[in-house]
Amino acid sequence: MIRVAIDGPAGVGKSTTSKALAKHFGYAYLDTGAMYRAAAWWCMKQGIDLDAEPDEQAICEAVAQLFTEDHLDMGLDPENPTITCDGEDISEQIRSAEVSSHVSVVSGIIPVRHVLIAAQRAYMAGQADPDSFSHGSGVVAEGRDITTVVAPDAEVRVLLTARPEVRQARRNGQAQAGAAGADDVAKRDKADSKVTSFLTAADGVVTVDNSDMDFQQTLDTLIDLVDKAI
Ligand code: C5P
Repeated sequence: MIRVAIDGPAGVGKSTTSKALAKHFGYAYLDTGAMYRAAAWWCMKQGIDLDAEPDEQAICEAVAQLFTEDHLDMGLDPENPTITCDGEDISEQIRSAEVSSHVSVVSGIIPVRHVLIAAQRAYMAGQADPDSFSHGSGVVAEGRDITTVVAPDAEVRVLLTARPEVRQARRNGQAQAGAAGADDVAKRDKADSKVTSFLTAADGVVTVDNSDMDFQQTLDTLIDLVDKAI
């Protein structure tokens, strides 16, 4: 089993590139950001106010319920990474501007991270959702702490990054193209970097700065890194 860990800030193109990389090698794909987004979406759905001083206990209980009671189904197929909650497709809702602007409140709570990290390790080991793993001999997992915390022993570890103005421009472009609305990536990175370290590469992690690369060049660079590891 080859595990490819890809970390990086918001707006760097991690999801698009990671999905294409998983598809290229026939691996499963795990979007850990989507798990934190689903957790924030679920808390809001339960009526928890994420604008006020966060009620950490209520948030932790809600998140534990989401993950232990099997409500959430992460689409691990890079060709169809649909995320469902109790059978409802929530893939778009979790990318709304409202979720984007509240997700860091939820992901900043350490016990919440412990629940999600355990679930992510199970997915990466092929223990959760074994059907989705039957089509591959590896997994590409992307997020903020995959190379450092979730899978520091992954066979391939990459920090995908780009200059802040390039990342904000990419997000603005996506919003204009009809995606879920404005996303203040600088604000989110600042909040996220208090709990995860994704702005500089840890020891043994390869940095790929794609500020001056197009999608295909970024993908080819990552394909080369995986090819060297298999
Ligand atoms: O990757 P994406 O931008 O969708 O991630 C959404 C949010 O989930 C991040 O802003 C961060 O708060 C949280 N996150 C995290 N650790 C990860 C992945 C995402 O804290 N491994």
